[in-house]
Order: sequence, then C-alpha cells, then structure tokens
Amino acid sequence: MSGFFMSKILVTGGCGYIGSHTLVDLIENGYDVISVDNNSRSNPVILKGIEQITGRKIKNYKVDLCNFDDTFAIFQENDDISGVIHFAAYKAVGESVENPLMYFENNLGSLINLLKCVQEFEIPHFVFSSSCTVYGEPENVPVTEKTPLKPAQSPYGATKQMGEQIVREFVKSSKTDAIILRYFNPAGAHPSAAIGEMPLGKPENLIPAITQTAAGRLPKMFVYGTDYSTRDGSCIRDYIHVCDIATAHMLALQFLEKEKNRSACEIFNLGSGKGISVLEAIDAFEKMSNVNLDYEKAGRRPGDVAAIYANNDLAKEMLGWSVRFSLDDIMTTAWKWEKRLKADETVFGSQPGYLN
Ligand code: WQD
Repeated sequence: MSGFFMSKILVTGGCGYIGSHTLVDLIENGYDVISVDNNSRSNPVILKGIEQITGRKIKNYKVDLCNFDDTFAIFQENDDISGVIHFAAYKAVGESVENPLMYFENNLGSLINLLKCVQEFEIPHFVFSSSCTVYGEPENVPVTEKTPLKPAQSPYGATKQMGEQIVREFVKSSKTDAIILRYFNPAGAHPSAAIGEMPLGKPENLIPAITQTAAGRLPKMFVYGTDYSTRDGSCIRDYIHVCDIATAHMLALQFLEKEKNRSACEIFNLGSGKGISVLEAIDAFEKMSNVNLDYEKAGRRPGDVAAIYANNDLAKEMLGWSVRFSLDDIMTTAWKWEKRLKADETVFGSQPGYLN
C-alpha cells in the first residue's frame, strides 16, 4: 500500500502490552498509526522496541483521555484518522475492588470522551478492547459470544460490561461501525523480545508471575486454590498469545473497511479454544525452560472463576483469524522477554520488583 493512501489508525494505550503488539501488526500490514497513552500504567520505552521491530518511529500523544479538550485536540490535529482501537484502561481486578470509583471514572470517562470525538469527526471504524471477564462464572465451557453474561465479579469486569453496552448503544445512532473483542488470557511476548509485558510492581497475572519467579525477581509464587472442581484442582484458563490478539485487531479493522460486518456492532471471542490449568501451565513452563519453579499452594483468590475458555469459531470464520502460537510458544517468548528485561537494565531501568 503506497504511503499516500495508508489508513491512519489511532491506538489508545499504545505503550501498553496489547497496544504495543497491535501497533507492530498494524504497521506490518501497511497502516499509518498514532498512539495516545499518558503512561500512567505503561513505560514509553516500549516505543523504542516497536521502532526496533518495524523501523517506524511512533508518535505518542501523552494525553489523559479523561481530559476531553486534550483528547479533542488530537483529532483536530489528525483529520485523516480512519479508525480507532481503544485499549487504554485500568485492568487490575484486585485494585478495582479496593477503588471502584477510580475504575468507573477512568475506564468509562475515557471511553465516553473518545466516542464523543469519534462522533464529532465521523470516524468510521471503532474497535473496543473487552475481556472474557464479562462472562463471570460460566455454567458451561467453552463459552461462545452468545453465552449469557453474568453479574460482573469485580468493578473492573463491570467497566468492561458497561463499556460494551456504551459502544453498542453509541453505534446505533452514529455513522461508526464497531467491533468488540473479548480477550481471554493474553500472554507471551513478541518473538524478537524487543517488546513484551511490563507489569508495574508485583505481577497479578500468572505468566509474568511464573517468569519473574523463574528469573529470581519474585522470591516465590503462589498457586491460588487447588481445591476447585477441575481436573487437577487448580483454575482453568485460556492462554492466547499476545501476537495472535494483535493480529485479530488488524483483521477486525479490515473486516470493517471491507464492510463485511452484518450489523453496526459485532462481538468476537479471542481465545485459543483450549483450557489449561494453573498447574499445567507451570508444568509447561518447567518443561520448556528446564527451570524448576518454586511455588507454594495457597488459598483461593477472591473473584477467580474455576474454569473459563473460549469457543473461538466465530472469529476464525468471520475475521479469517487463526491461532498461530501454541502454549509452548507463549512460555518460550515470555521467558525470552523476561531474560531480556533482566539483562537490559540500561534500556528498561531497574524494574520495580527486581531483587537487588
Ligand atoms: C489466572 C489464574 C489465578 C497469579 C485477569 C482479568 C482478565 C485479563 C487477564 C485484563 C487464576 C492464578 C495467578 C499467581 C496464581 N485482564 N494465579 N498465581 O484472573 O484469569 O484474568 O487477567 O485484560 O480480564 O480478569 O488472569 O493471570 O491473573 O490468573 O495461581 O501468582 O492464575 O488465581 O486462577 P485472570 P490471571
């Protein structure tokens, strides 16, 4: 695609985990991109990694999307935006329980400001980052997009359910078409190890907890609950490589650009379709890395569901999406990235949580 006709996509949260990997995939597929990220939960150093992979310098607007005027100014300055992908949000389940109003204000306030700009500038395409957390504790697995939603298990989950509703209602009275993508458990890192997940402080999520423990950055990790009614007593989740998630966003944009959507707002599950238990994930890591993981069995974590994994047929059929990375690829790339983080303190700084 010639440089004169590249569609320009605004990516919010471009310095974040999924946002950065999506910027790489968009660039590699001929899109022009800009990022909006106030770096309140992300490290701008990741932009150097994107440049290392793509050769493209990324313009990031360090703007809080909760500030309407600052957000509006970005659209005034870029009158050629043809699509918006909205990642920027707080996403720590535990923190949302402690500080619900901060979550509602940030996650919903930023979304509403962004949609006001999308409406004012008549941006045709909008992709919203949602999560399997909207399903709550499903009666049956795997879950499809038609599986009824349950009451959210946390304020974070509630912001995703409400966010989906806001997007669905917005497109009914606008010229914008939208796609909602429900991620299961994003994990792993770009194979180059130039970008990856950079949790701030102690990691909430399983895969970074595994790699940080193996790297000696965490003294010990805990398996939260081994008395669930699952095959080995630990929780079952659907781990999906972050690069597969990123590609799905590029395909979602192409789906809308080619007007393949049958309604103004369509929803897709992004999961591998395989359920893996916590103990199985640890075992997969140990086999791949030959590192024996020091973990302790502990009590259940509040808000955890016993088992959830995706039926991903709709995304495969409609978006032409496929799961290219395996669980072993997830562990291999996550481990390679963790070792890079530890080795390159000059680039990433001495990450919080690293043992001195
Ligand atoms: C997975 C399993 C833990 C850490 C959340 C959000 C979801 C998405 C991904 C944003 C659980 C267990 C974990 C540890 C453990 N977030 N675990 N020891 O909770 O399924 O999903 O993160 O997009 O929306 O809900 O992911 O990785 O935190 O936990 O035993 O040190 O691993 O109890 O069973 P989760 P997770």
